[in-house]
Amino acid sequence: MTSSTVRRRAAVADRAVLVNSAYADDRHLLARQSIYRWQQPRYDLPGLITAELAATSGTVLDIGCGNGKFVSRLNRDRADLRVVGVDISAGILAEVEKPVLVADAEALPFADGSADAVLALHMLYHVGDIEAAIKDLARVLRPGGVLLASTNSDTDKRELDQLWARAAGDILGIPHGPERVSLSSRFSLEKAPDYLGAAFGRVQVRELPGVIELTDPAPLVAHLASYEAWAEQSGVPFRETVERAHQIATGIIADQGSFKITCLGGIVACRR
Ligand SMILES: C[S@@+](CC[C@H](N)C(=O)[O-])C[C@H]1O[C@@H](n2cnc3c(N)ncnc32)[C@H](O)[C@@H]1O
Repeated sequence: MTSSTVRRRAAVADRAVLVNSAYADDRHLLARQSIYRWQQPRYDLPGLITAELAATSGTVLDIGCGNGKFVSRLNRDRADLRVVGVDISAGILAEVEKPVLVADAEALPFADGSADAVLALHMLYHVGDIEAAIKDLARVLRPGGVLLASTNSDTDKRELDQLWARAAGDILGIPHGPERVSLSSRFSLEKAPDYLGAAFGRVQVRELPGVIELTDPAPLVAHLASYEAWAEQSGVPFRETVERAHQIATGIIADQGSFKITCLGGIVACRR
């Protein structure tokens, strides 16, 4: 691993960056969530999580709940559950349905075995010590309970990675610019089973492949711009690179009719 890759990975788990910039509110998260509107097939992720919890009753802790997309669906469709939204960012919790709690996944303020289900959706790649966080998620889960984690594959949205490297190269005047900061690579779909298998006996992966097809570059530009919190680690003037990517994507859409992005995410269900 190069020193710049090490720096980028550390920045993805930098608490100050997460709390004060990336997730100070849900603006950037929303830009990344919104692009899936153009994915085929479309997955109703909150619906899939609700279905996974069909046999669960009692308390569900949504750790790293972000803007509360899953909390509100569970409250609506499973009013019998007690759902608690937990996040390290007080800012992003502001609009989330109560009860909510500011806490770190590595040191959860819950008693052993106090949760019937725990959610850790697209968040374990942000924690400083992934093994320690998984141990704590397992600790608060009662025997027989389920942990649902989610993340993206190392191959997810590779066309955006290629577009970024090309745009960054153009800005720097070199053939291939620095790679895009990757959020999920610290805890990708490929790495998740080993990490989770250390604390859980049964680990089942459900892959969710799809293709996003855009005829307007705006959602793609918003997605790239949502990495602004990590601009310093990008190794290239950030805004200029986003603008150059915008121009390249506009050209591709004019030539080919659309810009296609291959996606692979997944849900990992873990039981002891
Ligand atoms: C990519 S967002 C995912 C939000 C939501 N789970 C979803 O899937 O839409 C990651 C969230 O995890 C939170 N987070 C990051 N590190 C955390 C930690 N150590 N403990 C608790 N929450 C954390 C961030 O503040 C952010 O809201």
